[in-house]
Amino acid sequence: MGIDKIKNIAVIGAGNMGHQIATLCALGGFRTTCTDVNGEVLKKAENFFNSYTVSRVEKGKLSADAARQAQANIRFVPDMKEAVKDADYVIEAVVELLDLKRKIFADLDRMAPKHAILATNSSRMVSSLIADATSRPEKVINLHFFNPALVMKLVEVVNGPHCAPETADVSFKLCEKLGKVPVMLNKEVEGFLLNRMLGALLREALWLHDMGVASFEDIDKACLYGAGHPMGPFRLMDLTGIDLEYTMRMEAFRRTGDRAQLPSPGVAERYFRGDYGEKTGRGWFDYSQKKK
Ligand code: 3HC
Repeated sequence: MGIDKIKNIAVIGAGNMGHQIATLCALGGFRTTCTDVNGEVLKKAENFFNSYTVSRVEKGKLSADAARQAQANIRFVPDMKEAVKDADYVIEAVVELLDLKRKIFADLDRMAPKHAILATNSSRMVSSLIADATSRPEKVINLHFFNPALVMKLVEVVNGPHCAPETADVSFKLCEKLGKVPVMLNKEVEGFLLNRMLGALLREALWLHDMGVASFEDIDKACLYGAGHPMGPFRLMDLTGIDLEYTMRMEAFRRTGDRAQLPSPGVAERYFRGDYGEKTGRGWFDYSQKKK
């Protein structure tokens, strides 16, 4: 199957990443369905899509015609079976739990057309951990977007040992069609390229914080004003979600038994308080006064 055959994209999960990936696909001219088991999350994604397209038109970044076309391209559907029944390409963006992802991929394998490629937007897990839950491992791949997915250009395409060359090729070209800058990983490695590098920075930042060497505010300032980063690691964790950091670390610990993978105390404390970052109004920083 070549890239020209990809017309319908289904996005599974409408949370932090899924709602933006679905918006991106609809704006990119693909007939897009977006689904989530949580009706509230799905409604929020639909509201985001509507207000985002309106604001882009108001800002002069999108024509009214293109906004109307994107509106016509997208549907928010609660039923996964309905969402994927005509899909040529599926992008899963649910929470970072391996068992859940394997269950979803087994379901997708039954529900999606036989020719459909099934991609995971996992932040860390390689797709060979998931591919054997399906009868089409050669069509299972990592397609890793960055937050906010509408803004960040990079997408990592990870060519696992089970992937057919065509799957990697179509996935790469799909990213280009979406206006992204894809990079190809020729081998699977947990965390891929950027999350491994950002993870190294974050590990050090958390260590410095937990040892009381400096406040998280000052550690962020060092990255901003000494290294020119757009935001420091603590502010970035608030954007991507403290819940994501906690869940990813716990999954890595469960799989490896390596205590070094456990979340740092500062992360665990905020996770158990329900302070996940921007989306809950508080994480490392306070967003309660941020304009809606
Ligand atoms: N959704 C959609 N668009 C957004 C947005 C969001 N959440 N936040 C900002 N934008 C858009 C704005 O609308 C604006 O668009 P325009 O220029 O076309 O009008 C543009 O981004 C710039 O926004 P602002 O001027 O409000 O703010 P900044 O200039 O501070 O940029 C930022 C915000 C793009 C988030 C910037 O701070 C940044 O690049 N931060 C680093 C983000 C990063 O490192 N992401 C990767 C995280 S790691 C990851 O995602 C891995 C995964 O596995 C979790």
